[in-house]
Amino acid sequence: MTDVVIPEVAQSADTSRRKFLVGATAALSAVGAVGVATPFVSSWNPSAKAKAAGAPVKVDISKILPGEQIRAEWRGKPVFVLRRTPEMLEAIKATNGVVADPNSEEPQQPTYATNEARSINPEIAVLVGICTHLGCSPQFRPEVGAADLGDDWQGGYFCPCHGSKFDLAGRVYKAVPAPTNLLVPPHTYESDNVLIIGVDEENA
Ligand code: FES
Repeated sequence: MTDVVIPEVAQSADTSRRKFLVGATAALSAVGAVGVATPFVSSWNPSAKAKAAGAPVKVDISKILPGEQIRAEWRGKPVFVLRRTPEMLEAIKATNGVVADPNSEEPQQPTYATNEARSINPEIAVLVGICTHLGCSPQFRPEVGAADLGDDWQGGYFCPCHGSKFDLAGRVYKAVPAPTNLLVPPHTYESDNVLIIGVDEENA
């Protein structure tokens, strides 16, 4: 198990981060690479691929300040780990009326994350950072009332490819291209400060 943490910057101008395509996931090494894409050829190594396909990832969340997010990597996919503030949790309640699946009825999360905050610990969001439309990587946009997202924007995730919006629990807005909420990966906690992505008590 390897710590894999990539700092997240809201409104990053780095478009290469924004446009994370599903097809590109095969080019990334899931475990052991900290923010570095591994050449595509390495994904054809069966043993490496098998390792990447199954290995859980351990993440130290002790340094994540309230309102901040880091980006981990699991199975070649970005995973957003956000420490939500009390205001952010209130903002999730405020979006209940504008999201398409407020009660998480679609199986986009483990049963233990089928709740309003879609998480084990309401403070910590763990979301696969891949848009459920066509696989771009949504931007972390925590600014309430962001000028380009509307006065009623409560903070969340915006996908720049086709305009899908998700709230701070990864719940998809109504009337956007993305059909479902962001995926919550299986996860558990080794301790208060150590998150493990890719394994949970249901499947241990
Ligand atoms: S890929 Fe995100 S809206 Fe199309």
